Amino acid sequence: MSVPLEIRPLSERDLCTDFDAGGTPGGLALTDFLRRHAKKHQRQGVSATFLALTDGKIAGYVTLVGATVFRKDVEGVLKSLPPYPLPVLLIARMATAADFQGKRLVGPRLMRDVVFVEAVARRAGSGCVGIATDAKPEAVTFYARWGFTTLRASAELPALSRMFLPLATVQRAMEEAATGITSRAEPVRPEVVVPALLDSSVPAISGPPPEAVDLPFDQDADVETKG
Ligand SMILES: CC(C)(COP(=O)(O)OP(=O)(O)OC[C@H]1O[C@@H](n2cnc3c(N)ncnc32)[C@H](O)[C@@H]1OP(=O)(O)O)[C@@H](O)C(=O)NCCC(=O)NCCS
Repeated sequence: MSVPLEIRPLSERDLCTDFDAGGTPGGLALTDFLRRHAKKHQRQGVSATFLALTDGKIAGYVTLVGATVFRKDVEGVLKSLPPYPLPVLLIARMATAADFQGKRLVGPRLMRDVVFVEAVARRAGSGCVGIATDAKPEAVTFYARWGFTTLRASAELPALSRMFLPLATVQRAMEEAATGITSRAEPVRPEVVVPALLDSSVPAISGPPPEAVDLPFDQDADVETKG
């Protein structure tokens, strides 16, 4: 499936009311967030939202916030860190419009062109040791394909998985994707994954979407706790 996508920050002029992430509990909450809360949170400086658009219509979005984790939270993934709160980029919300879900198109572009780019920029600007998210069960596969590993259940929302991707891995993967030079004989994710998924010719997935899982998903709760 080849669909041209425009990737850019949410603006006050964007019409969000047509966006539809599907009828699952998670999809409804993610739709509601973009329609009713994303602009306000952006105005307030609570979060930043970026859109993927096709023909002027919103095909997906991702909402990012700065957050911190503690060394003990990531010690299985990162080593030799100081005992201070560690800066991360948190994927607070991410959704693809129902018509585009599972086509390996919108999500990968948002991950590459927004999440990875913002994380690398943040590292240079104010520090960032990695990218975190609290993933719903049906989204764990998506994040795992990008190299995220599951740390533990989210403390605030135990039905969600706290997932994490070290920034150094992202930087290496992006460099290797840009240069075509792989520094290891046996590269690990996302070094293998990123170059493949950056290719928009990746074929669409066929078959039905995964089963919906009924989760407590309070859209008005803390924006930082839901991937
Ligand atoms: C998760 C999501 C953002 C990924 O974006 P995408 O554009 O569908 O990205 P991809 O096509 O590369 O990824 C599809 C993967 O996402 C997962 N997924 C989650 N919800 C899905 C859905 N409704 N349909 C298809 N795949 C879905 C699947 O595990 C799938 O893995 P697979 O390719 O191995 O089958 C998007 O599917 C979505 O918005 N899902 C519903 C809401 C949600 O779960 N958001 C994440 C909050 S933690």
